Amino acid sequence: MKKIYVYDFGSQYTQLIARRFREMGFYAEIVPYTSRAPNDAGAIVLSGSPYSVYDEGAPLPPEEIFEKNLPILGICYGLQVIAHMLGGGVSPSRKKEYGPAKLKVLKENHIFKGVPKVFRVWMSHGDRVERIPEGFEVLAETEGSPYAAIFSESRRIFGVQFHPEVVHTEYGMDILKNFAIYSGIKPEWTPSNILDRIIEDIRETVGNGRVILALSGGVDSTVLGKILEIAIPDQVHFVFVDTGLLRYGERERIKRIFPSAHIIDAKERFLKALRGITDPEEKRKIIGHTFIEVFEEFADALNPKPEFLAQGTLYPDVIESVSVVGPSAKIKTHHNVGGLPEGMKFKLLEPFRFLFKDEVRRIGRFMGLDEEIINRQPFPGPGLAVRILGEITEERLERVRLADRIVEEEMKRSGWYDKVWQSFAVLIPLRTVGVQGDYRTEGEIVAVRIVESLDGMTAHWVKIPYEILERISERITGEVKGINRVVYDITSKPPATIEWE
Ligand code: XMP
Repeated sequence: MKKIYVYDFGSQYTQLIARRFREMGFYAEIVPYTSRAPNDAGAIVLSGSPYSVYDEGAPLPPEEIFEKNLPILGICYGLQVIAHMLGGGVSPSRKKEYGPAKLKVLKENHIFKGVPKVFRVWMSHGDRVERIPEGFEVLAETEGSPYAAIFSESRRIFGVQFHPEVVHTEYGMDILKNFAIYSGIKPEWTPSNILDRIIEDIRETVGNGRVILALSGGVDSTVLGKILEIAIPDQVHFVFVDTGLLRYGERERIKRIFPSAHIIDAKERFLKALRGITDPEEKRKIIGHTFIEVFEEFADALNPKPEFLAQGTLYPDVIESVSVVGPSAKIKTHHNVGGLPEGMKFKLLEPFRFLFKDEVRRIGRFMGLDEEIINRQPFPGPGLAVRILGEITEERLERVRLADRIVEEEMKRSGWYDKVWQSFAVLIPLRTVGVQGDYRTEGEIVAVRIVESLDGMTAHWVKIPYEILERISERITGEVKGINRVVYDITSKPPATIEWE
Protein backbone atom coordinates (compact mmCIF):
# COMPACT_ATOMS: atom_id res chain seq x y z
CA MET A 1 0.00 0.00 0.00
CA LYS A 2 1.41 3.38 -1.01
CA LYS A 3 1.28 5.91 1.78
CA ILE A 4 1.18 9.65 2.19
CA TYR A 5 4.01 10.75 4.47
CA VAL A 6 3.43 13.94 6.39
CA TYR A 7 6.74 15.57 7.31
CA ASP A 8 6.38 17.18 10.72
CA PHE A 9 7.96 20.60 11.12
CA GLY A 10 6.27 21.11 14.46
CA SER A 11 2.95 22.65 13.46
CA GLN A 12 0.00 22.27 15.78
CA TYR A 13 -1.94 21.08 12.71
CA THR A 14 0.37 18.22 11.64
CA GLN A 15 -1.83 15.52 13.18
CA LEU A 16 -4.89 17.11 11.67
CA ILE A 17 -3.41 16.81 8.16
CA ALA A 18 -2.90 13.06 8.63
CA ARG A 19 -6.36 12.63 10.12
CA ARG A 20 -8.04 14.45 7.26
CA PHE A 21 -6.48 12.15 4.67
CA ARG A 22 -7.41 9.11 6.70
CA GLU A 23 -11.00 10.27 7.16
CA MET A 24 -11.24 10.08 3.37
CA GLY A 25 -9.65 6.62 3.32
CA PHE A 26 -6.12 7.64 2.23
CA TYR A 27 -3.48 6.27 4.58
CA ALA A 28 -1.20 9.02 5.92
CA GLU A 29 1.61 8.70 8.43
CA ILE A 30 3.60 11.36 10.28
CA VAL A 31 7.40 11.33 10.23
CA PRO A 32 10.00 13.73 11.62
CA TYR A 33 11.16 16.34 9.08
CA THR A 34 14.62 14.76 9.02
CA SER A 35 13.35 11.46 7.54
CA ARG A 36 14.67 10.12 4.27
CA ALA A 37 11.99 9.45 1.65
CA PRO A 38 10.49 6.07 2.64
CA ASN A 39 10.32 3.37 -0.05
CA ASP A 40 6.57 2.98 0.22
CA ALA A 41 5.91 6.72 -0.08
CA GLY A 42 3.29 7.54 -2.69
CA ALA A 43 3.26 11.23 -1.80
CA ILE A 44 4.79 13.66 0.66
CA VAL A 45 3.17 16.52 2.53
CA LEU A 46 5.27 19.19 4.23
CA SER A 47 3.54 20.56 7.33
CA GLY A 48 3.43 24.04 8.82
CA SER A 49 5.82 25.17 11.52
CA PRO A 50 6.35 27.81 14.19
CA TYR A 51 9.73 28.53 12.53
CA SER A 52 10.79 30.80 9.68
CA VAL A 53 12.79 29.21 6.86
CA TYR A 54 15.48 31.88 7.25
CA ASP A 55 15.85 31.31 11.04
CA GLU A 56 19.19 29.91 12.04
CA GLY A 57 18.73 26.15 12.45
CA ALA A 58 15.27 26.24 10.84
CA PRO A 59 14.00 22.71 10.22
CA LEU A 60 14.54 21.64 6.61
CA PRO A 61 13.96 18.21 5.05
CA PRO A 62 16.72 16.23 3.31
CA GLU A 63 17.15 17.44 -0.28
CA GLU A 64 16.64 13.93 -1.64
CA ILE A 65 12.88 14.15 -1.12
CA PHE A 66 12.78 16.61 -4.03
CA GLU A 67 14.81 14.33 -6.25
CA LYS A 68 12.50 11.31 -6.36
CA ASN A 69 9.77 12.90 -8.46
CA LEU A 70 7.26 12.03 -5.74
CA PRO A 71 4.17 14.25 -5.62
CA ILE A 72 4.72 16.82 -2.85
CA LEU A 73 2.30 19.22 -1.22
CA GLY A 74 3.75 21.98 0.95
CA ILE A 75 1.34 23.61 3.39
CA CYS A 76 2.14 27.08 4.82
CA TYR A 77 5.71 26.69 6.10
CA GLY A 78 5.86 23.65 3.78
CA LEU A 79 5.28 25.96 0.80
CA GLN A 80 8.02 28.26 2.06
CA VAL A 81 10.39 25.30 2.42
CA ILE A 82 9.77 24.50 -1.25
CA ALA A 83 10.41 28.11 -2.31
CA HIS A 84 13.49 28.40 -0.10
CA MET A 85 15.14 25.11 -1.08
CA LEU A 86 14.37 25.18 -4.80
CA GLY A 87 15.65 28.69 -5.53
CA GLY A 88 12.74 31.02 -4.74
CA GLY A 89 12.56 33.65 -2.01
CA VAL A 90 10.76 34.02 1.31
CA SER A 91 10.64 37.03 3.61
CA PRO A 92 8.56 38.46 6.46
CA SER A 93 5.28 39.94 5.20
CA ARG A 94 4.55 43.55 6.00
CA LYS A 95 1.05 42.50 6.85
CA LYS A 96 0.74 39.18 8.65
CA GLU A 97 -2.24 37.08 7.61
CA TYR A 98 -4.11 35.38 10.44
CA GLY A 99 -7.63 34.10 10.02
CA PRO A 100 -9.91 34.02 7.01
CA ALA A 101 -8.85 35.32 3.59
CA LYS A 102 -10.44 35.29 0.15
CA LEU A 103 -8.61 33.01 -2.25
CA LYS A 104 -8.82 33.73 -5.97
CA VAL A 105 -7.99 30.80 -8.21
CA LEU A 106 -6.07 32.16 -11.20
CA LYS A 107 -5.48 28.97 -13.11
CA GLU A 108 -7.28 25.65 -13.32
CA ASN A 109 -5.33 22.84 -11.73
CA HIS A 110 -5.56 19.27 -10.41
CA ILE A 111 -5.89 20.36 -6.80
CA PHE A 112 -8.64 22.89 -7.52
CA LYS A 113 -10.80 20.41 -9.41
CA GLY A 114 -14.47 20.86 -8.49
CA VAL A 115 -13.97 23.96 -6.32
CA PRO A 116 -15.20 27.50 -7.11
CA LYS A 117 -13.00 30.27 -8.46
CA VAL A 118 -13.22 32.26 -5.23
CA PHE A 119 -13.61 30.85 -1.73
CA ARG A 120 -12.61 31.37 1.89
CA VAL A 121 -9.36 29.92 3.20
CA TRP A 122 -7.65 29.98 6.59
CA MET A 123 -4.31 31.72 6.89
CA SER A 124 -1.81 31.74 9.72
CA HIS A 125 1.59 33.06 8.64
CA GLY A 126 4.06 35.86 9.25
CA ASP A 127 6.34 35.11 6.25
CA ARG A 128 5.37 34.85 2.64
CA VAL A 129 6.84 33.69 -0.64
CA GLU A 130 8.20 36.68 -2.62
CA ARG A 131 9.70 34.81 -5.55
CA ILE A 132 8.75 31.38 -6.84
CA PRO A 133 11.39 28.90 -7.99
CA GLU A 134 12.05 28.37 -11.68
CA GLY A 135 9.62 26.02 -13.36
CA PHE A 136 6.78 26.90 -10.99
CA GLU A 137 3.59 28.75 -11.86
CA VAL A 138 1.21 30.64 -9.62
CA LEU A 139 -2.24 29.08 -9.22
CA ALA A 140 -3.99 31.34 -6.74
CA GLU A 141 -3.64 34.54 -4.72
CA THR A 142 -5.08 36.33 -1.71
CA GLU A 143 -4.81 39.97 -0.85
CA GLY A 144 -1.82 39.34 1.42
CA SER A 145 -0.19 36.49 -0.54
CA PRO A 146 0.52 36.88 -4.26
CA TYR A 147 1.70 33.25 -4.28
CA ALA A 148 -1.04 31.60 -2.24
CA ALA A 149 -0.80 28.43 -4.35
CA ILE A 150 1.98 27.32 -6.70
CA PHE A 151 2.69 24.29 -8.87
CA SER A 152 5.36 22.67 -10.98
CA GLU A 153 4.02 20.19 -13.52
CA SER A 154 7.38 18.59 -14.26
CA ARG A 155 8.42 18.29 -10.61
CA ARG A 156 4.90 17.30 -9.44
CA ILE A 157 5.14 19.75 -6.56
CA PHE A 158 2.28 21.82 -5.12
CA GLY A 159 2.47 24.47 -2.42
CA VAL A 160 -0.33 26.31 -0.65
CA GLN A 161 0.05 29.17 1.80
CA PHE A 162 -3.30 28.49 3.48
CA HIS A 163 -4.34 25.54 5.67
CA PRO A 164 -6.63 23.14 3.76
CA GLU A 165 -6.75 20.82 6.80
CA VAL A 166 -8.70 23.18 9.07
CA VAL A 167 -12.48 23.38 8.86
CA HIS A 168 -12.40 27.14 8.32
CA THR A 169 -11.00 26.58 4.84
CA GLU A 170 -13.90 25.96 2.49
CA TYR A 171 -13.23 23.05 0.13
CA GLY A 172 -10.11 22.15 2.13
CA MET A 173 -11.05 18.47 2.07
CA ASP A 174 -11.55 18.61 -1.71
CA ILE A 175 -8.07 20.04 -2.14
CA LEU A 176 -6.48 17.31 -0.01
CA LYS A 177 -8.52 14.65 -1.80
CA ASN A 178 -7.54 16.03 -5.20
CA PHE A 179 -3.89 15.85 -4.17
CA ALA A 180 -4.24 12.23 -3.00
CA ILE A 181 -5.98 11.26 -6.24
CA TYR A 182 -3.37 13.10 -8.34
CA SER A 183 -0.71 11.10 -6.44
CA GLY A 184 -2.43 7.81 -7.24
CA ILE A 185 -3.09 6.94 -3.59
CA LYS A 186 -5.98 4.48 -3.27
CA PRO A 187 -8.69 4.98 -0.63
CA GLU A 188 -7.98 1.65 1.05
CA TRP A 189 -7.93 2.79 4.67
CA THR A 190 -11.41 1.51 5.53
CA PRO A 191 -12.56 0.05 8.88
CA SER A 192 -12.75 -3.41 7.35
CA ASN A 193 -9.19 -3.22 5.97
CA ILE A 194 -7.85 -1.69 9.17
CA LEU A 195 -9.44 -4.45 11.23
CA ASP A 196 -7.98 -7.15 8.98
CA ARG A 197 -4.58 -5.53 9.26
CA ILE A 198 -4.76 -5.30 13.06
CA ILE A 199 -5.82 -8.92 13.41
CA GLU A 200 -2.99 -10.01 11.14
CA ASP A 201 -0.54 -7.86 13.10
CA ILE A 202 -1.68 -9.37 16.43
CA ARG A 203 -1.44 -12.96 15.16
CA GLU A 204 1.95 -12.37 13.63
CA THR A 205 3.39 -10.69 16.72
CA VAL A 206 1.99 -13.11 19.26
CA GLY A 207 2.43 -16.44 17.45
CA ASN A 208 1.65 -19.16 19.97
CA GLY A 209 2.29 -16.83 22.90
CA ARG A 210 -0.14 -15.62 25.52
CA VAL A 211 -1.43 -12.13 26.13
CA ILE A 212 -2.81 -10.28 29.12
CA LEU A 213 -5.02 -7.22 28.82
CA ALA A 214 -6.11 -5.02 31.72
CA LEU A 215 -9.58 -3.71 30.97
CA SER A 216 -10.35 -0.19 32.10
CA GLY A 217 -13.91 0.14 30.86
CA GLY A 218 -12.86 2.85 28.39
CA VAL A 219 -13.29 2.79 24.62
CA ASP A 220 -9.74 1.79 23.68
CA SER A 221 -9.28 -1.22 25.95
CA THR A 222 -12.82 -2.41 25.20
CA VAL A 223 -12.39 -2.32 21.42
CA LEU A 224 -8.93 -3.87 21.80
CA GLY A 225 -10.37 -6.66 23.95
CA LYS A 226 -13.05 -7.39 21.37
CA ILE A 227 -10.45 -7.59 18.62
CA LEU A 228 -8.25 -9.92 20.72
CA GLU A 229 -11.28 -12.16 21.22
CA ILE A 230 -11.49 -12.54 17.46
CA ALA A 231 -7.76 -12.70 16.71
CA ILE A 232 -6.48 -15.02 19.46
CA PRO A 233 -9.48 -16.20 21.51
CA ASP A 234 -7.64 -19.01 23.30
CA GLN A 235 -4.49 -17.08 24.09
CA VAL A 236 -5.76 -14.01 25.90
CA HIS A 237 -6.49 -13.25 29.57
CA PHE A 238 -8.71 -10.32 30.43
CA VAL A 239 -8.24 -8.78 33.84
CA PHE A 240 -10.33 -6.17 35.52
CA VAL A 241 -9.12 -4.65 38.77
CA ASP A 242 -12.01 -3.34 40.81
CA THR A 243 -10.29 -0.57 42.72
CA GLY A 244 -13.51 0.59 44.36
CA LEU A 245 -12.81 3.97 42.78
CA LEU A 246 -14.95 3.34 39.71
CA ARG A 247 -18.21 4.63 38.39
CA TYR A 248 -21.54 3.15 39.37
CA GLY A 249 -22.14 -0.39 38.09
CA GLU A 250 -18.76 -0.64 36.34
CA ARG A 251 -17.99 -4.16 37.46
CA GLU A 252 -21.31 -5.52 36.20
CA ARG A 253 -20.84 -3.64 32.96
CA ILE A 254 -17.43 -5.26 32.37
CA LYS A 255 -18.85 -8.69 33.20
CA ARG A 256 -21.55 -8.12 30.64
CA ILE A 257 -19.14 -7.08 27.88
CA PHE A 258 -16.40 -9.60 28.75
CA PRO A 259 -17.97 -12.60 30.50
CA SER A 260 -14.59 -14.35 30.58
CA ALA A 261 -12.77 -11.50 32.38
CA HIS A 262 -11.07 -12.23 35.69
CA ILE A 263 -12.42 -9.72 38.14
CA ILE A 264 -10.10 -8.88 41.01
CA ASP A 265 -11.84 -7.31 43.97
CA ALA A 266 -9.21 -4.98 45.41
CA LYS A 267 -11.49 -2.39 47.01
CA GLU A 268 -10.33 -2.98 50.57
CA ARG A 269 -6.72 -2.85 49.56
CA PHE A 270 -7.05 0.48 47.77
CA LEU A 271 -9.12 2.04 50.56
CA LYS A 272 -6.57 0.92 53.12
CA ALA A 273 -3.65 2.26 51.11
CA LEU A 274 -5.42 5.61 50.67
CA ARG A 275 -6.50 6.03 54.29
CA GLY A 276 -5.66 9.48 55.63
CA ILE A 277 -4.18 10.66 52.30
CA THR A 278 -5.37 14.05 51.05
CA ASP A 279 -2.56 15.18 48.72
CA PRO A 280 -3.62 14.68 45.05
CA GLU A 281 -0.21 13.61 43.77
CA GLU A 282 0.21 11.18 46.63
CA LYS A 283 -3.19 9.71 45.87
CA ARG A 284 -2.17 9.20 42.24
CA LYS A 285 1.11 7.57 43.24
CA ILE A 286 -0.49 5.20 45.73
CA ILE A 287 -3.19 4.19 43.25
CA GLY A 288 -0.59 3.59 40.53
CA HIS A 289 1.60 1.43 42.77
CA THR A 290 -1.26 -0.53 44.24
CA PHE A 291 -2.62 -1.20 40.76
CA ILE A 292 0.72 -2.59 39.65
CA GLU A 293 1.05 -4.77 42.74
CA VAL A 294 -2.39 -6.28 42.25
CA PHE A 295 -1.78 -6.79 38.56
CA GLU A 296 1.62 -8.40 39.10
CA GLU A 297 0.33 -10.82 41.70
CA PHE A 298 -2.37 -11.94 39.29
CA ALA A 299 -0.04 -12.27 36.29
CA ASP A 300 2.61 -14.12 38.32
CA ALA A 301 0.09 -16.73 39.36
CA LEU A 302 -0.91 -17.54 35.79
CA ASN A 303 0.45 -20.71 34.27
CA PRO A 304 1.74 -20.57 31.60
CA LYS A 305 2.76 -16.98 32.16
CA PRO A 306 1.71 -14.54 29.42
CA GLU A 307 4.66 -12.94 27.67
CA PHE A 308 2.69 -10.08 26.11
CA LEU A 309 0.97 -7.15 27.73
CA ALA A 310 -1.64 -5.63 25.42
CA GLN A 311 -2.16 -1.89 25.59
CA GLY A 312 -4.44 0.51 23.75
CA THR A 313 -1.64 3.03 23.09
CA LEU A 314 -2.78 5.43 20.36
CA TYR A 315 -0.93 7.12 17.51
CA PRO A 316 -0.71 10.61 19.07
CA ASP A 317 1.29 9.16 21.99
CA VAL A 318 3.65 7.45 19.59
CA ILE A 319 4.09 10.57 17.46
CA GLU A 320 4.86 12.72 20.45
CA SER A 321 7.67 10.48 21.49
CA VAL A 322 9.07 10.55 17.93
CA SER A 323 8.67 14.30 17.63
CA VAL A 324 10.93 15.00 20.57
CA VAL A 325 13.81 14.63 18.13
CA GLY A 326 11.95 16.92 15.76
CA PRO A 327 11.07 20.52 16.49
CA SER A 328 7.58 20.22 17.94
CA ALA A 329 7.71 21.13 21.59
CA LYS A 330 6.39 18.48 23.92
CA ILE A 331 3.64 20.42 25.61
CA LYS A 332 1.70 17.58 27.07
CA THR A 333 2.74 15.60 30.10
CA HIS A 334 1.03 12.29 29.87
CA HIS A 335 -1.29 10.92 32.42
CA ASN A 336 -0.62 7.34 33.16
CA VAL A 337 -3.79 5.31 32.83
CA GLY A 338 -3.85 2.63 35.46
CA GLY A 339 -0.06 2.43 35.53
CA LEU A 340 2.13 0.34 33.27
CA PRO A 341 4.01 -2.38 35.12
CA GLU A 342 7.40 -1.15 33.97
CA GLY A 343 9.47 -3.56 36.02
CA MET A 344 7.70 -6.58 34.60
CA LYS A 345 9.20 -8.60 31.84
CA PHE A 346 6.45 -8.24 29.29
CA LYS A 347 6.73 -7.64 25.62
CA LEU A 348 4.31 -4.91 24.61
CA LEU A 349 1.50 -5.57 22.16
CA GLU A 350 0.17 -2.24 20.92
CA PRO A 351 -2.02 -2.88 17.90
CA PHE A 352 -3.50 0.67 17.95
CA ARG A 353 -0.14 2.41 17.74
CA PHE A 354 -1.06 3.63 14.23
CA LEU A 355 -4.59 4.74 15.03
CA PHE A 356 -6.27 7.95 16.04
CA LYS A 357 -9.04 7.80 18.62
CA ASP A 358 -11.78 8.40 16.04
CA GLU A 359 -10.46 5.44 14.04
CA VAL A 360 -10.72 3.18 17.09
CA ARG A 361 -14.32 4.36 17.44
CA ARG A 362 -15.03 3.70 13.78
CA ILE A 363 -13.65 0.16 14.03
CA GLY A 364 -15.71 -0.42 17.18
CA ARG A 365 -18.82 0.66 15.30
CA PHE A 366 -17.90 -1.50 12.34
CA MET A 367 -17.64 -4.46 14.73
CA GLY A 368 -21.16 -3.73 15.95
CA LEU A 369 -20.30 -2.57 19.49
CA ASP A 370 -22.93 -0.54 21.34
CA GLU A 371 -22.90 3.23 20.95
CA GLU A 372 -22.87 3.35 24.75
CA ILE A 373 -19.39 1.80 24.65
CA ILE A 374 -18.16 3.84 21.72
CA ASN A 375 -19.29 7.23 22.94
CA ARG A 376 -18.24 6.84 26.53
CA GLN A 377 -16.70 9.97 27.99
CA PRO A 378 -13.06 9.78 29.17
CA PHE A 379 -12.52 8.83 32.79
CA PRO A 380 -9.27 9.41 34.68
CA GLY A 381 -7.10 6.39 35.54
CA PRO A 382 -7.10 7.15 39.31
CA GLY A 383 -10.88 7.19 39.11
CA LEU A 384 -13.16 8.88 41.59
CA ALA A 385 -10.18 9.40 43.91
CA VAL A 386 -9.30 12.62 42.09
CA ARG A 387 -12.92 13.76 42.28
CA ILE A 388 -13.04 13.47 46.06
CA LEU A 389 -11.18 16.41 47.52
CA GLY A 390 -9.76 15.51 50.90
CA GLU A 391 -9.76 12.04 52.37
CA ILE A 392 -11.22 9.06 50.55
CA THR A 393 -13.63 7.04 52.66
CA GLU A 394 -16.23 4.49 51.68
CA GLU A 395 -19.01 6.89 52.60
CA ARG A 396 -17.61 9.74 50.53
CA LEU A 397 -16.98 7.41 47.61
CA GLU A 398 -20.59 6.35 47.67
CA ARG A 399 -21.69 9.99 47.69
CA VAL A 400 -19.67 11.00 44.65
CA ARG A 401 -20.56 7.79 42.83
CA LEU A 402 -24.29 8.41 43.27
CA ALA A 403 -23.96 12.08 42.32
CA ASP A 404 -21.93 11.11 39.25
CA ARG A 405 -24.58 8.61 38.22
CA ILE A 406 -27.25 11.28 38.47
CA VAL A 407 -25.22 13.68 36.31
CA GLU A 408 -24.72 10.92 33.74
CA GLU A 409 -28.39 9.93 33.71
CA GLU A 410 -29.61 13.48 33.31
CA MET A 411 -27.04 14.26 30.60
CA LYS A 412 -28.12 11.17 28.68
CA ARG A 413 -31.81 11.80 29.19
CA SER A 414 -31.50 15.34 27.81
CA GLY A 415 -29.33 14.33 24.87
CA TRP A 416 -26.33 16.32 26.13
CA TYR A 417 -24.05 13.44 27.12
CA ASP A 418 -22.67 12.86 23.62
CA LYS A 419 -22.32 16.58 22.89
CA VAL A 420 -19.77 17.31 25.59
CA TRP A 421 -16.26 16.05 26.39
CA GLN A 422 -16.93 15.24 30.03
CA SER A 423 -19.67 15.74 32.62
CA PHE A 424 -19.22 14.64 36.21
CA ALA A 425 -19.55 15.39 39.91
CA VAL A 426 -16.84 16.44 42.37
CA LEU A 427 -17.09 16.20 46.14
CA ILE A 428 -15.88 19.21 48.11
CA PRO A 429 -14.97 18.63 51.76
CA LEU A 430 -16.67 21.70 53.20
CA ARG A 431 -19.70 21.58 55.38
CA THR A 432 -22.38 24.13 54.70
CA VAL A 433 -25.68 24.70 56.40
CA GLY A 434 -28.95 23.81 54.78
CA VAL A 435 -32.55 23.19 55.62
CA GLN A 436 -34.44 20.06 54.68
CA GLY A 437 -37.96 19.52 55.93
CA ASP A 438 -38.12 21.35 59.26
CA TYR A 439 -34.52 20.68 60.12
CA ARG A 440 -31.27 22.49 59.74
CA THR A 441 -28.76 20.22 58.09
CA GLU A 442 -25.05 20.19 57.57
CA GLY A 443 -23.75 18.61 54.44
CA GLU A 444 -20.95 18.52 51.91
CA ILE A 445 -20.98 20.28 48.55
CA VAL A 446 -21.10 18.66 45.13
CA ALA A 447 -19.67 20.62 42.22
CA VAL A 448 -20.96 19.71 38.76
CA ARG A 449 -18.37 20.03 35.99
CA ILE A 450 -19.38 19.91 32.32
CA VAL A 451 -16.82 20.82 29.68
CA GLU A 452 -16.38 20.69 25.95
CA SER A 453 -12.97 20.00 24.46
CA LEU A 454 -11.31 18.48 21.41
CA ASP A 455 -8.49 16.65 23.12
CA GLY A 456 -8.55 17.50 26.82
CA MET A 457 -5.66 19.94 26.43
CA THR A 458 -7.92 22.99 26.61
CA ALA A 459 -11.58 23.08 27.54
CA HIS A 460 -14.59 25.38 27.85
CA TRP A 461 -17.28 25.08 30.46
CA VAL A 462 -20.59 24.33 28.83
CA LYS A 463 -23.54 26.71 28.96
CA ILE A 464 -25.91 23.91 29.76
CA PRO A 465 -29.64 24.83 29.94
CA TYR A 466 -30.72 25.85 33.44
CA GLU A 467 -33.48 23.24 33.48
CA ILE A 468 -30.94 20.43 33.28
CA LEU A 469 -28.81 21.94 36.03
CA GLU A 470 -31.92 22.39 38.12
CA ARG A 471 -32.91 18.79 37.73
CA ILE A 472 -29.39 17.57 38.53
CA SER A 473 -29.31 19.74 41.64
CA GLU A 474 -32.73 18.61 42.84
CA ARG A 475 -31.91 14.99 42.35
CA ILE A 476 -28.49 15.13 44.02
CA THR A 477 -29.74 16.95 47.11
CA GLY A 478 -32.81 14.71 47.23
CA GLU A 479 -31.16 11.34 46.58
CA VAL A 480 -27.62 11.56 47.93
CA LYS A 481 -27.37 11.50 51.70
CA GLY A 482 -25.00 14.06 53.16
CA ILE A 483 -25.20 16.58 50.29
CA ASN A 484 -27.21 19.76 50.75
CA ARG A 485 -25.64 22.08 48.20
CA VAL A 486 -24.79 21.79 44.49
CA VAL A 487 -22.68 24.31 42.59
CA TYR A 488 -21.76 24.56 38.90
CA ASP A 489 -18.14 25.06 37.84
CA ILE A 490 -17.89 27.92 35.33
CA THR A 491 -14.13 27.82 34.76
CA SER A 492 -12.44 26.91 31.50
CA LYS A 493 -9.05 25.26 31.00
CA PRO A 494 -6.80 27.18 31.29
CA PRO A 495 -6.71 28.54 33.94
CA ALA A 496 -8.35 25.56 35.68
CA THR A 497 -7.76 21.92 34.80
CA ILE A 498 -10.70 19.69 33.88
CA GLU A 499 -10.41 17.53 36.99
CA TRP A 500 -10.29 19.29 40.33
CA GLU A 501 -7.22 17.43 41.54
P1 XMP B 1 -6.91 17.73 33.37
O1 XMP B 1 -7.56 17.59 34.72
O2 XMP B 1 -5.42 17.58 33.43
O3 XMP B 1 -7.45 16.55 32.52
O4 XMP B 1 -7.34 19.00 32.69
C1 XMP B 1 -7.31 16.37 31.13
C2 XMP B 1 -7.94 15.05 30.76
O5 XMP B 1 -7.19 13.97 31.35
C3 XMP B 1 -7.98 13.24 32.28
N1 XMP B 1 -7.14 13.00 33.46
C4 XMP B 1 -6.50 11.85 33.72
N2 XMP B 1 -6.46 10.69 33.03
N3 XMP B 1 -5.03 9.76 34.67
C5 XMP B 1 -5.74 9.65 33.53
O6 XMP B 1 -5.73 8.59 32.93
C6 XMP B 1 -4.99 10.90 35.41
O7 XMP B 1 -4.34 10.97 36.44
C7 XMP B 1 -5.78 12.00 34.91
N4 XMP B 1 -6.00 13.26 35.35
C8 XMP B 1 -6.83 13.85 34.44
C9 XMP B 1 -9.18 14.11 32.58
O8 XMP B 1 -10.32 13.32 32.93
C10 XMP B 1 -9.36 14.88 31.29
O9 XMP B 1 -10.09 14.13 30.34
